Amino acid sequence: MNKEHTLWSYWQGLLRHFGLRKAFLWGVEGLCNFLFSPLPIILGGSQIRSLVFRPMFKKIGHGFYSSPGIRLLHCYNMEIGDRCSLNYNVMLNGRGGLVIGDDFTSGPNVTIWTAEHLFRDPSRKVLEQGEIEKPVFIGNDVWCGTGSIILPGVTIADGTIVAAGAVVHRNTEPYSIVGGVPAKVIGYRKSSK
Ligand SMILES: CC(C)(COP(=O)(O)OP(=O)(O)OC[C@H]1O[C@@H](n2cnc3c(N)ncnc32)[C@H](O)[C@@H]1OP(=O)(O)O)[C@@H](O)C(=O)NCCC(=O)NCCS
Repeated sequence: MNKEHTLWSYWQGLLRHFGLRKAFLWGVEGLCNFLFSPLPIILGGSQIRSLVFRPMFKKIGHGFYSSPGIRLLHCYNMEIGDRCSLNYNVMLNGRGGLVIGDDFTSGPNVTIWTAEHLFRDPSRKVLEQGEIEKPVFIGNDVWCGTGSIILPGVTIADGTIVAAGAVVHRNTEPYSIVGGVPAKVIGYRKSSK
């Protein structure tokens, strides 16, 4: 997006890529991440982040809780349910569309991606091939263990447990426990109906 790596070319790239509205929102949320993400819980950091980010989300329920270090990107494309809890350094990227149900909870360092580079053509550089957006859907009552990564296009079914360190690239079954790289079923919370 930014071959020269000057501030001007960065803003030009943003405008070309996202248009004025999204580039503006991206700038505002970047500033909010910078200013409010480090605030400790003990000083009301979670409540302050909830207040500041609330108007930026496409939709957000009540009871949003967050630890320091979170990064929220493309909030205008994120719909989050009630009682969402984000642990330290969680990164949510809503670029291609991110929908999270109620009672989502995460361990530290979880990342969720909704876009990726096109790369198949070996005769062209990856950076010249463009990007593709793929929405992620997360059901109700999902727990993502520490360090897990949810890749673009995945649907995490209701009740799924994602084990620590898992890389999820396929849809999950309701109430399954998935782990490993790539993530596979390692158990069930209860028999699926
Ligand atoms: C997924 C998890 C909940 C499973 O707990 P559990 O059911 O008690 O798991 P067990 O220790 O009985 O292991 C069950 C199987 O899953 C496998 N497994 C457990 N954790 C795994 C992981 N992170 N990745 C891959 N496989 C895993 C075990 O090897 C075992 O396989 P086996 O039956 O072939 O030996 C737990 O291992 C985990 O990852 N917790 C996340 C902790 C965390 O992120 N905490 C942050 C606080 S929010």
